[in-house]
Amino acid sequence: MRVIIEPDYDKMSKWAADYVAKRIVEANPTAEKPFKLGCPTGSSPLGLYRELIKKYQAGELSFENVITFNMDEYVNLDENHPESYHSFMWTNFFSHINIKKENVHILNGNAKDLVEECDNYEKMIEDAGGIDLFMGGVGPDGHLAFNEPGSSLTSKTRIKTLTTDTIIANSRFFDGDMNLVPKQALTVGIGTVMAAREVLLLCNGHHKARALQHVVDGNVSHKWTASMLQMHPKAIVVCDEAACDELTVATYKYYLDKERGNL
Ligand code: GLP
Repeated sequence: MRVIIEPDYDKMSKWAADYVAKRIVEANPTAEKPFKLGCPTGSSPLGLYRELIKKYQAGELSFENVITFNMDEYVNLDENHPESYHSFMWTNFFSHINIKKENVHILNGNAKDLVEECDNYEKMIEDAGGIDLFMGGVGPDGHLAFNEPGSSLTSKTRIKTLTTDTIIANSRFFDGDMNLVPKQALTVGIGTVMAAREVLLLCNGHHKARALQHVVDGNVSHKWTASMLQMHPKAIVVCDEAACDELTVATYKYYLDKERGNL
């Protein structure tokens, strides 16, 4: 695991965007051999998306041959609801870049048969040749996508019931009213993320310090599902200083020294 420690949120976002852009450009994607990018929602990736948009606008990056797969979506929330992950992605990212609509994949939380929807999603990822780079955020309780504490660490895309912690955390997007937060979501599994060739996890802010400690310094545990990334051959955690408050001094110093001057 690589751990990149940046001074603040903006620098963390910039580092992550530079890395993602570099990967896409290096892959030199074509219609026959597109780049498959896994996308998260939430406040963590907003800065990263802004930076990627800037790169597109500057002509440094094209999404013409990029296929995206989003991590998750609420169950039973209208796609056009401002807080649906469909709305989030188009508002904050897709509408500002040259991605083709048919190359965007987001789980449909209103599908008639949710189990079939999840199985098809896995199949679509497989048919596309797997995900090259899965970007992600992490919940304060260490969850990745909507893989809540206690999720199987080999899970695939499926329906999950949200924990009270997540409902409370996400109520900030629903006028602070827990009752308005959907209680279930469709989400890629930890196994789905682990199958990606690379994973890049964003973690910022003091409220994520415990999660980062478990992901980087703790044991692999289904109670902190993002900790499974310790088992991934190519996982990068990009964080800001504030999120490092619970790391041991030795861990913190090691990763700073190790990464000095590297990208
Ligand atoms: C939600 C999403 C996760 C996200 C997490 C953290 O629960 N399902 O994918 O990583 O929230 O969100 P934020 O980045 O807003 O802290």
